[in-house]
Amino acid sequence: MLEEENHIELKNVCYHYPGTNKQLLRDINLEIKKNEITVIVGPVASGKSTLIRTINLLLEPDKGQVLIDGKDAKEYHDKIYEMIGFLFQNPEDQLFYPVVVDDLAFGPRNLGLNRQEIHKRVIEASEQVGILHLLERETDSLSYGEKTMVALAGLLATRPSILLMDAPTTGLDLWSISRIIELLKKLKKTRTLVITTNTEDVLKIADKIYFLWNGKIRGEYKSYRTFRSAMSRKNIL
Ligand SMILES: Nc1ncnc2c1ncn2[C@@H]1O[C@H](COP(=O)(O)OP(=O)(O)O)[C@@H](O)[C@H]1O
Ligand SMILES: [Mg+2]
Repeated sequence: MLEEENHIELKNVCYHYPGTNKQLLRDINLEIKKNEITVIVGPVASGKSTLIRTINLLLEPDKGQVLIDGKDAKEYHDKIYEMIGFLFQNPEDQLFYPVVVDDLAFGPRNLGLNRQEIHKRVIEASEQVGILHLLERETDSLSYGEKTMVALAGLLATRPSILLMDAPTTGLDLWSISRIIELLKKLKKTRTLVITTNTEDVLKIADKIYFLWNGKIRGEYKSYRTFRSAMSRKNIL
C-alpha cells in the first residue's frame, strides 16, 4: 500500500471509560478510504463521539487496533496530530485565543511555518469556510455557529490529510450547513474524511455509512438510499 494513501482500518476496537464498567464500544471494525466521505450515524449516546476519538487515539482502545496505511497508529506518535485534524463536537473545546485571527494562526505557527505562509494559510482557510469578516472579532463574542466555522477554518489552516469531524453541523443554520456540505465535497477530492452526524443532508453526500447502535456497528451502507430503506425494514426510522 502507498505511504500517502491515508487508508484507515479499525480492527476489533473496544473501549470503556476509566472508572466505568460498561464496555461502550464493542468490536468495532471499520474501513475508511481516501476520497470518500465516511459517516458514522446513530442515536444519541450510541457512542459516535467516543468512536471517532479512538481513530486518532485521543482515546486509546482497550483492545483492538487502529491501522493507518497498514501501520499501527501508535507508531506515528505525535505525528498523528499533524496528519489528522479533529473537529470537536463543541467548538469551544477548540478555540483558545481571545481574537479569531490568532486562533487560526496557531496551528500553522505550531508547524513552524514562516509569517508569510501562516498569513496565506489563514486567509485561504477563512475564505474556504466563509469567515473572512470574522478575523478581527473577539472569540467570546461569536455565536455558536460562528465558533463552529472558526474552529473548522483553524483545522483547515494546518492542512491535515485526514479530517475527523464530530457532529460538525449540530446547531448550525441551513445556510451554514449547505456551506459545510459544499466544502466537504471539495475536501474529499484530496483527503480522507470521517464525520459523525445525524443530519440528513450530510448522510446524503456519504460514500459509506456505518450505523452505530449501542456501541456496535449494526450496518454498513453505500448510500443514504440503502441506509434509509434498511432502517425502514428494521422499523428503526
Ligand atoms: N468521559 C466519560 N466518562 C464516562 N462516560 C462517558 C464519558 N463520555 C461519554 N460517556 C458516555 O458514553 C456514552 C456514549 O457517549 P458518546 O460517545 O458521546 O455518544 P454520542 O456521540 O453517540 O451521543 C454516553 O452514555 C455518555 O454518557
Ligand atoms: Mg456525540
